[in-house]
Amino acid sequence: MKRTLSYLVLLVLIFSCTGKSVPPTINPQAFNKIIDGKQVKLYTLKNQQGMEITVTNWGARIVSCMVPDKKGVMADVVFGYDSIDGYLNAKENYFGASIGRFGNRIAKGEFALGDIQYKLAQNNGINSLHGGINGFSKKIWEVVQKGSNELNLKLVSADMDEGYPGELQVSMIYRLTNQNELFIQYEAKCDKPTIINLTNHSYFNLHGAGNGTILDHLLTINADFFTPIDSTLIPTGEFRPVENTPFDFRNPTLIGAGINSKDQQILFGLGYDMNYVLKKSPDQNISLAATVYEPASGRLLEVFTDQPGIQFYSGNFLDGIYPGKKGKSYGYRTGICLETQHFPNSPNQKNFPSVELTPDQVYYHTCIYKFSVK
Ligand code: GLA
Repeated sequence: MKRTLSYLVLLVLIFSCTGKSVPPTINPQAFNKIIDGKQVKLYTLKNQQGMEITVTNWGARIVSCMVPDKKGVMADVVFGYDSIDGYLNAKENYFGASIGRFGNRIAKGEFALGDIQYKLAQNNGINSLHGGINGFSKKIWEVVQKGSNELNLKLVSADMDEGYPGELQVSMIYRLTNQNELFIQYEAKCDKPTIINLTNHSYFNLHGAGNGTILDHLLTINADFFTPIDSTLIPTGEFRPVENTPFDFRNPTLIGAGINSKDQQILFGLGYDMNYVLKKSPDQNISLAATVYEPASGRLLEVFTDQPGIQFYSGNFLDGIYPGKKGKSYGYRTGICLETQHFPNSPNQKNFPSVELTPDQVYYHTCIYKFSVK
């Protein structure tokens, strides 16, 4: 209590001395908690441009991300809560979370590897979503190393954890560069054949989190095709051209322009909730997947990845009931997720790129969120 008070006094002092409208960052004390005998904490990464990111090892989640606008005014552009209790008490929307073992849906929570049939928790209607009930987004990751601009985390997921075969050793890095890029890099190894599809589930709003909807954001996605879904949001296996559909973001397009269209795919998703097949030339390892631009602030977010797909989710399930950081409300369609990934339900779609991992292989995944102004 005393500590929290002195922290607040310090913030007020900084605020009144600088006279600048710098929103206060997160109080790290509010993230100190022992859960299942493990220490949960908040870690701060900074770069020389004044950008600042906080991450908690509970779910290896991005909690805040302070980014300048075209006048240099900083705003926190991601969703999250002020304390670890905020996360534990709220409805699960996966704010800032590291998702695993399998991002997005697996139909009926079932898949086969060789002759063996596996059964996962059905935590999203009849399907399994984002690694199940106690997925990586709720695990306490071990912090291996912490630098001023870098955090290395580790997680060991036991054989049959949430129904997935094989022990999986995951290492991940959050690194903030002086070019205002946030690198998220995953590496994983298993001791038995398994499946894997990790991703990050940050919600962005370039006005600042909690400052209105994302319908006025301009989006581009570097994809000619998307993978249409059924009524339970499972891909049908088809690759459908984006041309002449509300899913065409090959040129900068307002998110609000097509979001209420009567297209069956929009109706199934209740808005945008779709996997895109990213366009790549064979020699490209990491390439530009998507951009988001908000003209009033001038903030631009570019997303780069080496993954074959990206999930564009327009926050259609957000209800704003649990107050977010600084009491802000994150309502319907106020955040955009761009989740770099393998395609949903890949284990059951033989024509999708394989998500199998064997003990002689290493899983790699890079996602870069780069911020600038225009
Ligand atoms: C993903 C899914 C959405 C939804 C959110 C979490 O992005 O595609 O359908 O489940 O996660 O609320």
